[in-house]
Parts: sequence; C-alpha cells; structure tokens
Amino acid sequence: MTTQKPKIALIGYGKMGKEIEHLAIEKGFILTDIFDIDKPLVLGKNYDFDVAIEFTTPTAVFENIKTIAKMKKNIVVGTTGWYDRLEEVKRIVEQEQIGLIYSPNFSVGIQILLKTVEQISKFINSINNYDILIEEIHHRHKKDAPSGTALLIAKKILENIKSKERITTNPLDVDENSLQIASLRFGEVFGVHKILFDSEFDTIEITHTAKNRKGFALGALLAAVWIHNQKGFFEFSV
Ligand SMILES: NC(=O)c1ccc[n+]([C@@H]2O[C@H](COP(=O)([O-])OP(=O)(O)OC[C@H]3O[C@@H](n4cnc5c(N)ncnc54)[C@H](O)[C@@H]3O)[C@@H](O)[C@H]2O)c1
Repeated sequence: MTTQKPKIALIGYGKMGKEIEHLAIEKGFILTDIFDIDKPLVLGKNYDFDVAIEFTTPTAVFENIKTIAKMKKNIVVGTTGWYDRLEEVKRIVEQEQIGLIYSPNFSVGIQILLKTVEQISKFINSINNYDILIEEIHHRHKKDAPSGTALLIAKKILENIKSKERITTNPLDVDENSLQIASLRFGEVFGVHKILFDSEFDTIEITHTAKNRKGFALGALLAAVWIHNQKGFFEFSV
C-alpha cells in the first residue's frame, strides 16, 4: 500500500461524480478524465490516470469494470446493484492482474455501524429473543432496492445470528427465521439505514443518517489512495 495520491479519472458524472470531483480538487488530487454516457471510455486509447472511480448505474458498471481491467488500471467501484456478478468480477480482476476495491457504502459512519451491528448480533445470538428489521430510505431516483448497504447490514446479521436464515423484502412473507428489509423511496434523502431489534420487553434502534454525499466521496478517495499500486479484489472497511 502507498499513501501517494494517484491520478484519478471519474466514470459517471452524476450526483456522486460531481461530489467526488469537488472534494478531489479540494484535496489536491489530479483529475485527468471524466467519463459519462456522452464521453465513454475507449479501449485502446492511452489515458493518463492511475485509478478510476466508478459511480454509474447497475446496468453500466460491469462493462466499465471490464474495460478498465483490460486497460490494466485500478478501480474503485461505488455503484451498487451488481453484486450477483461479484464472482465474475473477481475472476476478471485476477485474470487482468489489477486492483479493485468496492463498497455499497464508502461512508466511515456506516463502517462503524456495521461493526456495531456485528457486536449486537453476537449478543442477541446468545440470548435469542429479538426479532430484527432493517429499514432503508433513499431519494426517489435510486435505481436499486433494497440498497446495497441494507444488504450488507443483513449479511452481517445473518452471519452472526443462527435463527435468522434468509432475507425477505415481502411483509407478507415474514417468520421467525426471516430478516425483513423494508425499502422506501422519498424526496431527495441521501440515505437512512435503521436497524430495529425488538423483544417482548424493549426495542433497540440504531440509525445512520447521511447528511450529504461528502462522506461517500471522502471514503471513495481514501479507497483510491489505498488501491493505488495494489493488485487484488477488496471490500472497503475501516
Ligand atoms: N458506494 C457508495 O458509498 C455510494 C454512495 C452513493 C451512491 N452510490 C451508488 O452510486 C451509483 C451512482 O449514484 P449517483 O447518485 O451518482 O447516480 P446519478 O444517476 O446521479 O449518476 C449516474 C451517472 O452515471 C452516468 N452513466 C450511466 N451509464 C454510464 C456509462 N455506461 N458510462 C459512464 N457513465 C454512465 C449517468 O449518465 C449519470 O451521470 C448508484 O449505483 C448509487 O446507488 C454508492
């Protein structure tokens, strides 16, 4: 690992792309290229960046990863909704010998919440009298549901609580072995993730509320520095 700032390119110049651009300039990164639908990456063309930061859409991300890998460049993937192709992407990363780091949520606060949920889940597993609900709220332009972060929180719970065996998004399909994720799409909400642990005696609630997109942008830039000159497939964690 190196702490040297890589030259970066942005793939996707939407809400997150613009946020990362502002912060990257503020923090003294060199931003060599910005790609979007009307200015796509061209395989075979010589680009000067070291690490690409990808925040596009669930349908575009896979092809972008493939192109970057063929260019032998490293990549930070912030786009969500592609995790059914994780194994395929892992193989591409190995085959092309590049570095890739991804996360459904680059905010450091969410990483702290994940560690907290893991600890609480371990306690609950030994007591086993709490039901659990994950609720997530995002702006109405979001293209995937449940959110990648909600799925990551669910994974932590399923790994640590034996009685919870499956995820359901259907309120009419809940039983003591299911873990329900409820998704709401509303206004311009940056992202709220709430976990409720409910027993006969009390309810424990943990909520993470993103106040803006700056926290995601900062984490993505930290990840770009971390993945610079590295090889391999990594999930972001603090
Ligand atoms: N990991 C995180 O911390 C985090 C945080 C926020 C959002 N996200 C995710 O990041 C993604 C982008 O979010 P956003 O709010 O910026 O969305 P957005 O809709 O504002 O921007 C997406 C951009 O991608 C562009 N795009 C679409 N197809 C493309 C292609 N083939 N090549 C290049 N660009 C293309 C669009 O034109 C648009 O400018 C979503 O999947 C979202 O869920 C992740």
